[in-house]
Amino acid sequence: MDEHTMRHVRYPDVFALGDAGSTPNSTTGAAVRKRAPVLVENLLAEFDYSGRPTPSIPPHRDAARPCAVRLATVVPMTAHSETPAPFRIRPATLEDVPAVARVAALTFPDACPPTTPQEAKDEHIARNLNQQVIAGWITDGRHAVHVAVRPEGHDDAGTVLGYVMADLAPEEEPDVTAAVGADVRVGCLSKLYLLPEARGTGAAAALLAAGMAAMREHGLAHAWLGTSVANHRANAFYEKVGFRTVGRRRFMVGGNPEEDNVRLAAL
Ligand SMILES: CC(C)(COP(=O)(O)OP(=O)(O)OC[C@H]1O[C@@H](n2cnc3c(N)ncnc32)[C@H](O)[C@@H]1OP(=O)(O)O)[C@@H](O)C(=O)NCCC(=O)NCCS
Repeated sequence: MDEHTMRHVRYPDVFALGDAGSTPNSTTGAAVRKRAPVLVENLLAEFDYSGRPTPSIPPHRDAARPCAVRLATVVPMTAHSETPAPFRIRPATLEDVPAVARVAALTFPDACPPTTPQEAKDEHIARNLNQQVIAGWITDGRHAVHVAVRPEGHDDAGTVLGYVMADLAPEEEPDVTAAVGADVRVGCLSKLYLLPEARGTGAAAALLAAGMAAMREHGLAHAWLGTSVANHRANAFYEKVGFRTVGRRRFMVGGNPEEDNVRLAAL
């Protein structure tokens, strides 16, 4: 790899990090931490501000399918570490339902503005994030649910740390249709929630990548999501991974209207 760009010297559509890159520097976690932003920046340079691929590599100019989110996902490097990986991503099963419902109830309030009344949050959780609803997502074939779990080797192995739910057949969202056209198949990244201890670990990007992959495999071309305009951390995260704001929508939380950014990314 070119040590300055993290790009392969002969195959320009290949980027790498870690040992596989064989760059002339150390293979420590500290080195990877410095190189990861370089790699992500060079990958994101292959996309325009609306998330559309604008590849600089001639053979792929017309048929580019790279996904900024997938490529910009940086999974923690553990190859040279005694420490077990902090999370593992896998599809959710019905056995996960109680744990996902617990995570959903604990974390939904974090996505709301401080002004949302407690009763409105409680009502939303009871109605839309109960075990029956979650079991429906897992079994109905219209949704894809993945969980981040603590892997073996930790005291809390098996604990569900977070979840992502992709809606593969969402209702039409006018700002999204206006941005991509009525004939484009669009999915919705409907839920992405982590327990506080799993935030800032890379688990969000890894869960997001799983949800995006499920939508791509379902033949969808774009993904949209809504997040409260007051949810600064989530907005920073989605901006970082390539979701661009294309509009606003009103979102009801237990009868209480909230304002969401509508964000869109190519798959
Ligand atoms: C949204 C969520 C999944 C993102 O996962 P995460 O692990 O926190 O994301 P990351 O740490 O990778 O990225 C968050 C970014 O926001 C930044 N950030 C943190 N707090 C912030 C704040 N108050 N204002 C602005 N940016 C903030 C972080 O520095 C980070 O950016 P950086 O990587 O450039 O430093 C997670 O925070 C979460 O579960 N939040 C509660 C539930 C929620 O809001 N879900 C989204 C509903 S749509």
